[in-house]
Amino acid sequence: MKVMRVESLVYGVDDLAAGMNYYDDWGLPRVSHGNTGADYLLPSGQTIKLRASSDAGLPSAVEGGSTVREVIWGVDNAASLDQIGAALDSDQKITRDAEGGIHARDPWGMALSVRVAQPVPVTPEPSARGLNHPFWPADRVKPTRMGHAVFFVPASKLAATSKFYAEKLGFRLTEGVKGFGDFMRCGGSNDHHNLFLLSIGEKSGFNHVAYEVADFDELMIGGKFMEGKGWKAVTKPGRHIMGSNLFWYFNNPSGGATEYFSDMDVFDDDWKPVIHEKNPGYSHWMMS
Ligand SMILES: [Fe+2]
Repeated sequence: MKVMRVESLVYGVDDLAAGMNYYDDWGLPRVSHGNTGADYLLPSGQTIKLRASSDAGLPSAVEGGSTVREVIWGVDNAASLDQIGAALDSDQKITRDAEGGIHARDPWGMALSVRVAQPVPVTPEPSARGLNHPFWPADRVKPTRMGHAVFFVPASKLAATSKFYAEKLGFRLTEGVKGFGDFMRCGGSNDHHNLFLLSIGEKSGFNHVAYEVADFDELMIGGKFMEGKGWKAVTKPGRHIMGSNLFWYFNNPSGGATEYFSDMDVFDDDWKPVIHEKNPGYSHWMMS
């Protein structure tokens, strides 16, 4: 039984036009749009669905305003899907949609869905050049995949939520900070984390989703483009300590933030989770 990745995020958005403008500028390919929403399809096959927050078909939100309403996780095959369905069904009422996807809630209240992943292999290619080929980067970036999603989980629900993803969906804890949060990776992923449960008191909500770009140049080019379009950065570019990824975050009008990331630590089941008594800090370096 292996969850592979975040397959899709479904947002409930107050201002659809702003939401579309933002994700267009971010570099995601928009494949459809209308009065009720827009869909984006990443090169990896993962999708982003923007829907009007008034859409009665959306799961209820864990916070007010524009935010993620449902996280869809992709599993390796139909047998895994059934196994997870049985595990979830043992202590809550799950539903199945017409495509076979399972819908449930985690202990904190976030709506989640599980379905068979539709992966397209993508490998970010750092810009390479040979003899007599000067470096000349593109002026736009095209993120290849979604790497991780991060949520504010109330401190009182953190332990139960972490246990839920480990026991019901087979996530692996890679690193945690006592009283602050748990970094977890999908059982079928080597990323340092695909899910970070972040605890700031009883705060509840969506924090950010991260999109992978090839290298530091792409991260800078993407961020500079967003700044040029007037979108507000949440941070300066830097390199995290936990996960080691290069990062640059921007405020998303559809809810939370988005992160360009690159060069994250990778792990497999030989890794023993590290639990810090004290937070080792936000970044090795961050531009001023
Ligand atoms: Fe991140």
